[in-house]
Amino acid sequence: MMRRIAVVPGSFDPVTLGHLDVIDRAAGLFDELHVLVVHNPDKSALLPISQRVSLLEQAITEAGLPTNIVVASWSMGLLVDYCMDVGASVLVKGIRSQVDVAYETPMAIVNRNLAAVETVFLLPDPANAHVSSSLVRQVAGLGGDVSPYVPRAVAQYLERSRV
Ligand code: PNS
Repeated sequence: MMRRIAVVPGSFDPVTLGHLDVIDRAAGLFDELHVLVVHNPDKSALLPISQRVSLLEQAITEAGLPTNIVVASWSMGLLVDYCMDVGASVLVKGIRSQVDVAYETPMAIVNRNLAAVETVFLLPDPANAHVSSSLVRQVAGLGGDVSPYVPRAVAQYLERSRV
C-alpha cells in the first residue's frame, strides 16, 4: 500500500506551541510527516536555519510527539521540489484566522498548479490562536517572557542568547 507522506513547511523562526500542535495533529493523519524549515525571503530571520532545525527536533522530542516525524530544511528551490524528492503529495498548514486563509490560499493554489501537491488546512487548538513566531521574536527581543508561547527548549535558548 502507498505510504501517505505530508510536509509541514514554514519559517519556524522560532517554533511555537501553535506549530507543535499542528505538527502533532498532522502526524496522526499521515504515515510520514516532514517538518520542513524553509527560508522565507519576505521575512527577516532571527535564528539561523540550522538552529531552527535543532530547536524543532528538541521540541518534538520533549513533547513526546509521534516518531513518524522527520525534521529537515530546504533551500534548493521550490517547496514542491522537496515534496517530489520525498514522495509527498500533501502540504499541511495551520489556520488561526481569516488572515491566515488569505495568506495561504494563493500559495496553496500555486503549489497545486506547479506539481499537483494539495494543501490541507488544520485548525489548531484555539488556545494558541494568538501565538505567532513574529510575536515571540518581538517579545523576546524586548526582554519579555515568551515561555507561555514556545516549547521549553526555545524559551531556554532565547533566554541564554539574550544579550
Ligand atoms: O512560516 P512561513 O514564513 O509563513 O512559511 C512560508 C513558506 C516558507 C512555507 C513559503 O514562503 C514557501 O513555501 N516558500 C518556498 C518557496 C516556494 O516554493 N514558493 C512558491 C510557492 S508558494
